[in-house]
Amino acid sequence: MLVNSSLLFKKAQKEHFAIPSANFVDMEGIKNHVQCAEEMGLPLIIAIAESHLGDNINLEDAALVGRKYAKEASVPIVLHLDHGESVETCKKAIDLGFTSVMIDASTKSFEENVATTREVVEYAHARGVVVEAEIGHVASNFNMNDTEALYTTAEEAAEFAKQSGCDSLAISIGTAHGVYKAKAIPEISFEALASIREATDVPLVLHGGSGSGDENLNRCAREGICKVNVYTDLYLAALEESQTVKGTGAADYIALVAALKKGMNDCLKHYYKVFETKN
Ligand code: 13P
Repeated sequence: MLVNSSLLFKKAQKEHFAIPSANFVDMEGIKNHVQCAEEMGLPLIIAIAESHLGDNINLEDAALVGRKYAKEASVPIVLHLDHGESVETCKKAIDLGFTSVMIDASTKSFEENVATTREVVEYAHARGVVVEAEIGHVASNFNMNDTEALYTTAEEAAEFAKQSGCDSLAISIGTAHGVYKAKAIPEISFEALASIREATDVPLVLHGGSGSGDENLNRCAREGICKVNVYTDLYLAALEESQTVKGTGAADYIALVAALKKGMNDCLKHYYKVFETKN
C-alpha cells in the first residue's frame, strides 16, 4: 500500500527502530526494492534523488511506476523525492503523487532554509504529503566541491523544526554520502544525536548510510534515528554480484539482471536487520 511516512515514523520513534530509505535510479530498482520489502514483510521508503533524474528515469516515470508497485504491495511503501533542489521540483513531485518529498536547502542560510522549507510544507500539507528538510549539512564524497560537513546543533534543529513545520529532519552527525575516503568507518557523534533528540520531537533521519558501519547504524536506529538512507552500498552490492555472470549469450543478460537484483536485495535485507525494522 502507498502511504506517507507519518505513522511509520511515529512507530519507529516509539519502538526505537529505523526504516530503510532505498534509493533507486531506474524503474527496475523500484520493482526490486518493493519486492524485497514484500519478501521481508516490512515497510520501505523508496526514493529517487533529483540528481538521478534523467535518461534512465524522469519524475513522471518514477511517479507512475512507483505508485503502481507501492499500491499493489502488501506492505506500506512511501514514494519519496530525495534531495529536492527547488520548490518547483517538490511541487511537481507532489502533483504527480509522491507521498513524501525532501527539500534540501541545507547549503542556504538558516533563514532561507526555513522560508524555502515552509513554502514546500504549506503546499505539501494541503495535499496530504509530508516534507523532510535538512539542517546542518551532510557532506558528499561524490561531489568534490561539496566535502564540507556542517554538524547539526540541538538548538538549531529544534528552532528549525519549529519554524519550518517540517515532518522529519535530516541531521548531520558524522556520516557522508558515498564511499568514505580511505574506506574508514566514520565516527558518529552519539552525543549530538542524544542532545538533538532531547531538544525536539520531530522524527530524525540520517543520510549517507552506506559504509557507515553496522554497529554505528544499529545504535543510531536504537537511539533516535527513524530512517536511514542507503544508496551506494545497494548499487555496489549489485555490481559485485553481477561479476558472477560471465557468459555472453542472450540468456546471460537475464542472468545478469537477476544477479544485479540479488546483490541489491541481499544488501537491503542486511540493512533491515541492522536497523531492526519492525512491521
Ligand atoms: P549513501 O550513498 O552514502 O548510502 O547515501 C545515500 C543518501 O543519503 C541518499 O540521500
